Amino acid sequence: MSELPQKDVVDLSEDEARAELERLAAAIAAADVAYHQQDRPEISDAAYDALKRRNDAIEQAFPELVRIDSPSGRVGAAPAEGFAKVRHGVPMLSLANAFEDDDVTDFVARARKFFMQDILRDPDFALAFTAEPKIDGLSASLRYEDGVFVRGATRGDGTEGEDITENLKTIGDIPHRLKGSGWPAVIEIRGEVYMTHAEFRRLKEHSAKYGGQDYVNPRNTAAGSLRQKDPRITASRNLNFFAYAWGIAEDADGNSTPPAETQTEVVQKFKEWGFVTNPLMIKTQSAEELLAHYRQIEAQRATLGYDIDGVVYKLDRLDLQQRWGFVARAPRWAIAHKFPAEQATTILTGIDIQVGRTGALTPVARLQPVTVGGVVVENATLHNEDYIKGIGNNGEPIRNGVDLRVGDTVIVQRAGDVIPQIVDVVLDKRPEDAQPFVFPHICPACGSEAVRELNEKTGKLDSVRRCTGEMICPAQAVENLKHFVARDALDIDGLGDKQVAQFYAEGRIARPADIFTLKARDERAIKKLKDADGFGPVSVKKLFDAIDARREPELDRFIYALGIRHVGETTAAVLAKEFGTIENFRDTAIAAAHHEDGHSVFPEIGGIGETVRSSVMAFFANERNVQALDDLLAEVKPQPYVVTISADSVVAGKTVVFTGSLERMTRTEAKAMAERLGAKVAGSVSGATDILVAGPGAGSKLKKAEELGVEVISEDEWFERVSK
Ligand code: IVH
Repeated sequence: MSELPQKDVVDLSEDEARAELERLAAAIAAADVAYHQQDRPEISDAAYDALKRRNDAIEQAFPELVRIDSPSGRVGAAPAEGFAKVRHGVPMLSLANAFEDDDVTDFVARARKFFMQDILRDPDFALAFTAEPKIDGLSASLRYEDGVFVRGATRGDGTEGEDITENLKTIGDIPHRLKGSGWPAVIEIRGEVYMTHAEFRRLKEHSAKYGGQDYVNPRNTAAGSLRQKDPRITASRNLNFFAYAWGIAEDADGNSTPPAETQTEVVQKFKEWGFVTNPLMIKTQSAEELLAHYRQIEAQRATLGYDIDGVVYKLDRLDLQQRWGFVARAPRWAIAHKFPAEQATTILTGIDIQVGRTGALTPVARLQPVTVGGVVVENATLHNEDYIKGIGNNGEPIRNGVDLRVGDTVIVQRAGDVIPQIVDVVLDKRPEDAQPFVFPHICPACGSEAVRELNEKTGKLDSVRRCTGEMICPAQAVENLKHFVARDALDIDGLGDKQVAQFYAEGRIARPADIFTLKARDERAIKKLKDADGFGPVSVKKLFDAIDARREPELDRFIYALGIRHVGETTAAVLAKEFGTIENFRDTAIAAAHHEDGHSVFPEIGGIGETVRSSVMAFFANERNVQALDDLLAEVKPQPYVVTISADSVVAGKTVVFTGSLERMTRTEAKAMAERLGAKVAGSVSGATDILVAGPGAGSKLKKAEELGVEVISEDEWFERVSK
């Protein structure tokens, strides 16, 4: 640590005092981190106290220079226990995405169409849009009352976020007091908290030196920094903030007062009030110029010094924004034009075959580690045998029909949180001795034959090669057991993937029924579970209790847990509702499976297609599956499915229509839920419709509902209503 000048406080000029407070804040914050986070104090306690005393003395002499991140202010502030919830005055919305240029021209065309009357009526009517970078950080909402920052919150679910005021106060770009004048009495300023590349690198280097944690990318690190319980840690990470939007804006009487008339002017105001705004915002009337700006920003992307993931276009005039309105959780008047997924070049070092629960042999690419958009990628999915050969799902060539070979130089792509993909091969760099990949025809886990079934409907070979070993295949058996106990299936506490694999390897369980006989067998066993790795008497007792607690599972969970191909949670619920009891389901399915024309025996069920029916019959045609189920049924008693219709729910007796894309539930789930609550679900909007639940992208039904004056609510509002 550098020697600090020890001029008498009274002799300091204002500039010197400011500089010294800055240095002291940094030094104390660094010492705090070394002490609290890394358990590696860098200075003695006495030296630390001296820094603090000096800081206090200067602050006393120059109260107007006290810093936002002043060490004196923060010391002793007890770290919060979790974060309090904050309801946003106005919800924090998301944005619709555009990926292609056409989506952008469509957006502009939609606006022109919506405002056609105005354009025709007034030759001077200008429909302008802004374009600005979409910052890849975390959005935050900052509430100012009479110009003073009083509360800051995360976005949360858009309606309610977490109170992170103290952490936000440590960000230099966030003023404690608004500058200038003319701000609304209450205003929620919104924007993005982010971490620059330079700061990210600094942290990473520091962490590498002190053996700290590994930081994945600036966004995650900024998120982690913001959610610290101790604001001193947030202060030690230099976060930044761009202001670009607002929520509530009210005058002293509580009347809504937009800060200005246009988006551009509001952002200008933010700047005058002391915020940092993004310099790359433009305003234009033409789609071409929006796209040109997008290209320009994209070209600068690598040199901006912070991550962005697209460009946001917004209708400029606020009164027009109001008129154009919102769809569910996103404004109609704005759109996010995303950049294409990020790519990197690396080498395919190997291809491994994994065997899944249904016996599918899935090839996985092993890659020389490479950083793609801040994340190290070492594996990529290869989907199936044809994919490696350069053949798509419908027989069409992919990557120009070029196959993948170990040793190839490949281009890897990562988009958002999806599994990385290999999108191309650099043929020029293919080693001369590289061999075409030979996909195994026997299962690497059990040695059974692995086949590609003929799809009767299409007459084509299934793209997936499957192990025929079923129960004798350890890979399938283990995956099946993991599925059986998973959270959304039987959900047995203390029996996770790790324990299942261990128990299988130790020969304690091989099939689901074994889970429920584990305790009885353990009592007779010589090698008891309590002596096994990772267990003790207490954890074993807990596990047995958790298993016993699941001996009467709900029917839909139980059916889902069986792991029948194509039977997901929703389908399982439909089957449970249709058959009512496990016995009825079992007997009908077996009868159908053994009937010449099984489809005539298996009932027609709404929401259940041909694929599921065939798959259920195939499952029950297999004796080993039926035996495994019967053994299981000797141990557990799935509850008969009861439809509880609540007559007193707020939607009981109402006719409801769902439209648009729903984000929190599938269509089938939505229907089941509404029916459970005593509502009637209809497919189209008519005079008899009481409520239309509209998700993003709602079209003609929404229009019709508006024409008929039917009440229209969002998916969130639906949940809010039915949860009362
Ligand atoms: S405007 C009503 N502008 O993107 C419009 N959002 O996908 C509210 N974001 O949650 C958002 N940069 O976290 C807007 N320049 C920008 C943005 C931006 C990043 C984020 C924001 C929002 C998400 C929506």
